[in-house]
Amino acid sequence: MHNIAGLRDRARAKLPAPIFDYLEGGADDEWSLRRNTKAFDDYALLPSQLNNVDRLDIKTDLLGTTLQLPFFLSPTGMSRLFHHHKELGVCRAADRFGTLYSLSTMATTRLEDVAAATAGPKMFQIYMLKDRELTREFVQRCQASHYQALCLTVDTAVAGNRERDRVNGMTMPPKIRFKQALSYAGCFSWLWHLLRQPDIKLVNVAHREDALGKGAMGLIDYVNSQFDRTVTWDDVAWLVQQWGGPFVIKGIQSPEDAKRAVQVGATAVMISNHGGRQLDGTPAPVDCIAPIRQAVGDQLELIVDGGIRRGSHIVKALALGANACAIGRPYLYGLAAGGQAGVEKSLYILQQELACTMRLLGVSRVNDIQYKHLMKQ
Ligand code: FNR
Repeated sequence: MHNIAGLRDRARAKLPAPIFDYLEGGADDEWSLRRNTKAFDDYALLPSQLNNVDRLDIKTDLLGTTLQLPFFLSPTGMSRLFHHHKELGVCRAADRFGTLYSLSTMATTRLEDVAAATAGPKMFQIYMLKDRELTREFVQRCQASHYQALCLTVDTAVAGNRERDRVNGMTMPPKIRFKQALSYAGCFSWLWHLLRQPDIKLVNVAHREDALGKGAMGLIDYVNSQFDRTVTWDDVAWLVQQWGGPFVIKGIQSPEDAKRAVQVGATAVMISNHGGRQLDGTPAPVDCIAPIRQAVGDQLELIVDGGIRRGSHIVKALALGANACAIGRPYLYGLAAGGQAGVEKSLYILQQELACTMRLLGVSRVNDIQYKHLMKQ
């Protein structure tokens, strides 16, 4: 496995088809999903030669801490579906590479257990839930467990229309249907671990949600029943105050929204379309960086995720004005392919590609990657 595409192939071979579809899929026609990666091809890299690129420094200051990489791990729900190392394997891999791990509200490991597993930097991703008391409880638990940052995802008023999951009848925990039995039976190792440890639960919210404790529920139905659709910028301002530390708003794509994020006191926005899993037809996040940077100047840190599959993609995003990037599926492919070691492999691949691209481009520090290194195609 020499690249992220190789890890993806291995993940596909190891997972039952409905689980791989849940990992891989996007909303509606998956136009945004495809566009997210393709959009990087609209920018060519313009090298600057003879710059002494012997020593590289790819450390990145973000959210009040210094990361060893200019990219980190986006929040993704239900890691236990992909490998029994689940969130603990992922956060340990992130720690080994000195980068930030984001834990999703929809995780299958308690936030306290993730905090205890490593001393590395961590961010908790929260949704504004109908039960506002539960949201406030999350803030207190994260404060008690010393999470560095809180990240509010705002592009999930309702669940996106993920047709692969509808077709597969994807539920939580997964129910093996007769017509898919063969696909599950072919994934012996995955199935064996599931039968040994059938612990796929949204444990961070489970104590309140009997729907998750008992029986299986459609994922889309769960999201639609729990997420608060009345939420506005005033609620975000309230949450920023409750938290009192580095605060990230995830799911921003327009310059106007980025300006509102400054007004409510956010530290950073994640320019993201949820990996093409929410509103299909939204632009590729990489195309939103420059307009947002122009609108907010340096009042916000800009993080970009969506479609990053190569180190050169990270370089292009940084050249367009991002402070850092984040990845979702690439590390999940690694997790499915080989647990913690697979996640480490995904980080290693991107780190090596990034270093090679930077040297060939003629830059030796992340801050030296600039717009002049790009040529629009
Ligand atoms: C996600 N994403 C996500 N985002 C979020 O804020 N909370 C969540 O619980 C999840 N869950 C989730 C599950 C899975 C299986 C995937 C693939 C994605 C979106 C994620 O944080 C990120 O925005 C995208 O994954 C980025 O796109 P790439 O890197 O996957 O192309």
